[in-house]
Order: sequence, then structure tokens, then C-alpha cells
Amino acid sequence: MSDEIQLNDPQTLYRRWEGSQWNPFEVDLERDREQWRAMDSEDRGLIYWLLASLMVAEERITTKFSGLVGAYGSEEEATFLATQQVDEARHMQFYARFQDEVVASPATVASHVGRARREVSPAFEQIFDVALVQAHRALVAAPEDLAAKVRFVAIYHLILEGTLGLTTFKFSTEYLDREDLLEGFVAGYSRIHHDETRHIGYGVWFLRETVRSRPEQAEVVKSTLGDLLPHVAEALSGSGDGGPDIERLGVSMDAVREFALGGLMRRLAIIGVELG
Ligand SMILES: [Fe+2]
Ligand SMILES: [Fe+2]
Repeated sequence: MSDEIQLNDPQTLYRRWEGSQWNPFEVDLERDREQWRAMDSEDRGLIYWLLASLMVAEERITTKFSGLVGAYGSEEEATFLATQQVDEARHMQFYARFQDEVVASPATVASHVGRARREVSPAFEQIFDVALVQAHRALVAAPEDLAAKVRFVAIYHLILEGTLGLTTFKFSTEYLDREDLLEGFVAGYSRIHHDETRHIGYGVWFLRETVRSRPEQAEVVKSTLGDLLPHVAEALSGSGDGGPDIERLGVSMDAVREFALGGLMRRLAIIGVELG
């Protein structure tokens, strides 16, 4: 498990949040603006695809979250979940600002998302527009239903944030650092990543506590992963329509898969779930 992802109870995570505030409008994007204008079309295409994925993901993750806040188990958990909702909105605002000021096409968040949607793959849509939306709807309809909450957290915290999110962050920021590109973007994305490690910490904590006290819920985690993992593998491969050649980032598909699955397996071991 990444040493950045520490298992802490919601009260500890909430106190950490209070000490980790940042403002998406204060990240310096001056040099990014110059670099964006000078970038070749291949680099631009790659970054644009990355931005589109992040824009769509953060919009979904922001607007398909409130059901979990309503399904809290304690006041401390409700407090932490309220902070996560703010974080996700802040992340969406940072990517929208980058589009406004660096890509230089100011628009509402909705039209940024609408444009970004044309760039993402069918696997990505399956995860964010079908699985996440359905799991959120089920939780809103039945906040007391533990299996609905487990399925939602398994999709959101374990798969979207823990597997897709961490993997995308690692390989894209390593590429940008190596090429000395878009340091403002990398700075904002790194603050976002720091927030995400807190969120994933909550998800692993919740699933571990739940599986300990209600072992039958392990089956819900397993079946959720079984449903989603094929789409995750496809989304990470960048295959299908519109995806870039992932190997342009200077990494092999094997390295991407190994990082993504390795992290997931370590988190599952902590939770107490074995994929059979
Ligand atoms: Fe986020
Ligand atoms: Fe998050």
C-alpha cells in the first residue's frame, strides 16, 4: 500500500482536511499558458485527452456523491464526507479554470464537460455514466441499505479513486515532470492527489470495518469488482475510440497494469477480501 494512504478513522481524516486547505485559483498558471501555446500538436492532444478524462471524472464524482453523505453511520463520518464533497467540487473547479485560462476557451463547467465527453472512451462511460450513476441512485433510494453503501464505496473509492485515479496521476505527472511541461497543472493536480489519498483512506477504512463486522459484505465488494474490472482494464489501456497511445507516456502497458492491480490487491488485503 502506498505509504501516503494511511488508514485513519473519519475524525482523524477530517482534522487532516482542516490542515490541508488550498485554493484552485491561486495556483500559478502563467508558465503553463506560454507552454501551451508553444506545444506541438501531439503533446497537446495527449494533454487534452488527459484533461478531458479528469474533467468528466471530477464532474461525475462531484455530482454523484451526496447519497453517501446521507448514508453516514456517525456524526464524525458525516463530517468527513461533507469535506470530501467540497474537495471534489474544488477539483472540478481547478480543471475548469485550466481550460478557461490555459487552453484559453472560457466557458461554463457544463460546456467544458460536454466538450470533454467527446474525448473519452466507451469503457470510461460505462464506469462513470452507468455503474457509478446506478450505484448512486440505489444509495439515494435506500440510505439504510448497507450493501448499497458498500457497492458505492467499492466503485467510488476503491476503483475510481484508488485504481483509475492513482494510476492516471502517477504516469501522467511522471511524464510531465520528465518533459518539464505544465508545472502549474502538475502543482494543482498534486494538491488534488493529496486530497484523493485522504478519500481513499476513508474508503479502505469503511470497507475494512464493514467486512470485519459483517463478513457477508465481502461478497458485495467481490461482485462489484468482478463487474467493473474489465472496463477498468480497458479504460487504462487507452484502447478503443479516441484514446491516446499510452506508450507515448514512456511506460509500458504492463507497468500500468502492474501498478494499478498491485495497489488494488494491497488495499483488498487490508480490507480482508480475497478475489477468488
Ligand atoms: Fe477528486
Ligand atoms: Fe476524491
